[in-house]
Amino acid sequence: MDNFYLTTAIYYVNDKPHMGSVSEAISADIIARFKRLEGKDVFFSTGTDEHAQKIEDRAKEEGIDPQLFVDKASKTWKDLFNMFGISYTRFIRTSDADHIKVVKHFFQTLYDKGDIYLGEYEGWYCVRDATFLKDSDLKSGKCPICGEKVQKINETNYFFRLSKYEKPLLKYYEEHKDFLRPESRYNEVMNVIKSGLQDISVSRKSFKFGTPVPFDKDHTIYVWFDALLNYLTAIDFLKDEEKFNKYWPADLHLVGKDITRFHGIIWPAMLMSYGLPLPKEIFAHGFWNLEGEKMSKSKGNVVNPIDFVKEFSKKAGIDIETAVDVTRFYLSKEISFGLDGNFTMDTFYRRYNSDLANDFGNLINRTTTMLYKYKDGAVPEEMVRDEKIINFINEQEKIYLKEMDKYNFSQALDAVWNIINTLNNYIQTKTPWKLEDNQDALSSILYTLLEGIRHITILLAPFMPFTTKKVLKTFQDDPASIKKMEWGQLKVGIKIEKLPPIFPRLKRETADEENGKEENFISHEDFAKLDLRVAQIIAAEKVQESQKLIKLRISLGDEERTIVGGIALHYEPEQLIGKKIIIVKNLKPRKLMGVTSYGMLLAASDENNLSLLILDKDVKEGSKIS
Ligand code: ME8
Ligand code: MG
Repeated sequence: MDNFYLTTAIYYVNDKPHMGSVSEAISADIIARFKRLEGKDVFFSTGTDEHAQKIEDRAKEEGIDPQLFVDKASKTWKDLFNMFGISYTRFIRTSDADHIKVVKHFFQTLYDKGDIYLGEYEGWYCVRDATFLKDSDLKSGKCPICGEKVQKINETNYFFRLSKYEKPLLKYYEEHKDFLRPESRYNEVMNVIKSGLQDISVSRKSFKFGTPVPFDKDHTIYVWFDALLNYLTAIDFLKDEEKFNKYWPADLHLVGKDITRFHGIIWPAMLMSYGLPLPKEIFAHGFWNLEGEKMSKSKGNVVNPIDFVKEFSKKAGIDIETAVDVTRFYLSKEISFGLDGNFTMDTFYRRYNSDLANDFGNLINRTTTMLYKYKDGAVPEEMVRDEKIINFINEQEKIYLKEMDKYNFSQALDAVWNIINTLNNYIQTKTPWKLEDNQDALSSILYTLLEGIRHITILLAPFMPFTTKKVLKTFQDDPASIKKMEWGQLKVGIKIEKLPPIFPRLKRETADEENGKEENFISHEDFAKLDLRVAQIIAAEKVQESQKLIKLRISLGDEERTIVGGIALHYEPEQLIGKKIIIVKNLKPRKLMGVTSYGMLLAASDENNLSLLILDKDVKEGSKIS
């Protein structure tokens, strides 16, 4: 069987979990679940990083024994991950006995090879980021990463001969363009390597919490040297050779952009020195901000994921598991994976109402309601196959698979939503409620809808594991698998259980409404009623006997229409051709001087001038404005 080993970064236990940190575990979980859906043997590891100096400092501050402190804090993370459905195979802690053994062995081996040596370190250390810094790294005397104060260190340390691996790393990067993604991060690391690598400190003398250097008890192994090795311990390095060889090299290390260099430079150099193959891919994702600001404890704007989910579940009237799924969905849909994202309550509520309540939830409700009305809840036979819609679904499924393979979650979800929207339109155009005297047609339509929902649910399983499991159970088709995506596998005659609405619409849409400040606002729902589109003008002529009106032929990509606008005093028809303008698409058609206008163009005017709304960049005709 095909194996897939993936990891997240391991989390510092002194910090409380926030939406940003949990988002990484969710992304990794989506990949793990998708690979399992494909039938792979997945090993998925995550866990906690417990040996940093700041953790010892924190424990001291709170007056508790460091080990007790990390035990408690690590459990917080584990409970959180369980709540969020993170399907890890191992939850590793750097205080685990087998890990400490691996760290000592690895350090010793590199020392025996001459790649670790004793030297004098003089420079700076940032406790928060566990990073050694040179004078030239500092920004106004502070840490360039977190902006906090740094410590001056002048001590005897063990050094790792990173400089020796400068050329091998460069060569490796040149030959493996996909080793580190996205490309911007690849380039960042390449530049660092090209600018020259110096040996780095890999031990600290002045503090004790952590793993001691095996041959020199006065020194504690540097927390990053220790932490990176978790990727080996997790799959039983030194303990179970067969298992280790089965999963190593890792297929994917998923990390945040702030720790790219540790993973892209130090880690591969450590592996080269030891003589182990390098991981196949490192993917460095972006950062989540909150309402436009960096999440930080000092700003006090860190969302506690547990509180958030509990509160949202209450507001929406859904259970905790569904609220977790909504959160997972939002975090995957809202950004292009790899880039930074902005978590806002407003977009969260909107996504919930439009994508989940209106689109997906509605499709299920309408379909099952009709199934109960006309077929007593039992899956009817597909008398006539609607090849057109089946082909469309197959096509979208291919796109989904391709995008999932590249970890393009948002694009993969777009393909699923294309299916959902198409099926919702299918109900609208086929009007099954008018077909009671054509039972064959009615049965076929209902079968198509149900089988379509089954497919959608499988595709969404990695993203919304709790909800999809419940839905698939009603289809007697749990667990999900890509193999089950052949059309027509839904069994005729089985009774579909009727679920209450999975995603009931939220009445209150914005935080502002909640505070009772709605008087001067229109709701997002109201705004969403306007279908504004980019349109390209393909022909233009004056409307006869009118001073002001111009008749335009416009293209919306998949459709052409005629619209009439009062712009003749300000534009000549010829100069309009080719321009991309904005129109209201769903305005009731209206006759102006004998010509029907299907929509309205948008323009701004003052006493002197009238100007069409033109785009700042080129965007395809038909694109939505929101
Ligand atoms: O760096 N958005 O741990 P950590 C997205 N222990 N991701 C975020 C984020 C945000 N706002 N904030 C943090 C460490 N992360 C080390 C790792 S691995 C051998 C050792 C991500 O708790 C961050 O980028 O500071 C990192 O990948 C992970 O959370 C853990 O961060
Ligand atoms: Mg961090």
